[in-house]
Amino acid sequence: MITCSAPGKIFLFGEHAVVYGKTAIACAIDIRAHVTVEEVHVPAVQMKGPGGNVDLNQRKHPYIYAAVEKFRNLADLPPENPTSASGSGICIDIHSEIPVGSGLGSSSAVTIATLKSLDVFYGTHLSPDEIARFGHQVEEEVQGRASPTDTFVSTFGGLVRIPDRVKLDFFDAPIVIGNTRKFSSTRKLVSNVASLKERHPQVINQIMDTIGTIAETGVKYVTANDFTTVGELMNINQGLLDSIGVGSFELSELVYASRKAGALGSKITGAGGGGCMIALCEHKNLSRVAHSIKRAGGDSFICRTSNSGVRVE
Ligand code: PMV
Repeated sequence: MITCSAPGKIFLFGEHAVVYGKTAIACAIDIRAHVTVEEVHVPAVQMKGPGGNVDLNQRKHPYIYAAVEKFRNLADLPPENPTSASGSGICIDIHSEIPVGSGLGSSSAVTIATLKSLDVFYGTHLSPDEIARFGHQVEEEVQGRASPTDTFVSTFGGLVRIPDRVKLDFFDAPIVIGNTRKFSSTRKLVSNVASLKERHPQVINQIMDTIGTIAETGVKYVTANDFTTVGELMNINQGLLDSIGVGSFELSELVYASRKAGALGSKITGAGGGGCMIALCEHKNLSRVAHSIKRAGGDSFICRTSNSGVRVE
């Protein structure tokens, strides 16, 4: 039996501007998806469910299904439609701490942890680069367009500068996550920003440039662990995200509630419109900020940035 886990991610700076080639900084967090693969005496790929094992269903588990398909050419997987009743197969069990559909990279974490578990189980010795690349292909197959950021961060962990995907010196920081619990579609928000940019190219291009400059400036301060300046830059970044229309009333409520409770900086993480915000805090303010986000109507939890990518448990 093999269990692997992979982390979720946040954007410290630069979402949306990165779509236009500007710098952004993403970071793994210490909430993870755990995937276990074990042998079963049924010639099929199964999923563990509350009522017992069921055969893997593409509609219900599209990421797992696509990850398993990636392995068909690499390993001796049981056939998709088993005809004989004898032989062995595998059962896949998922436990994820990462809220789904909230911009924290839950699908990537599940995909990467699944690929790594299958890799270890079948002894295929994929390199981390291959795991990240297969993970990205799985996301594209399931979602259509997908950014390689989430799968890269989930594979390698730590602080990553994008779009060039360079790992930076680690930024060890406590973060409070506030979740509006409102679903947001990355595709729709990216397309809204694109049409705003078409209508006002000069205005929006400058905003994208400035967001990129914030991320580039941020590199120096995150690697120096200068929380105060990182927080200040996050707040400027948040103002610009609001200006391109990816904020929402609920997100703003959580952002301001966290600042009022003492956060050094707070902003949307990911596509915006709903989903999550992050607040960088000193240790002494963490629970105050978390409570304040809850009082403002969000779910909140305290986590840390994490240098650990996908791993065998
Ligand atoms: O909400 P998420 O985790 O899907 O992040 C989207 C980040 C964007 O910059 C808006 C899009 C992208 O592909 O980088």
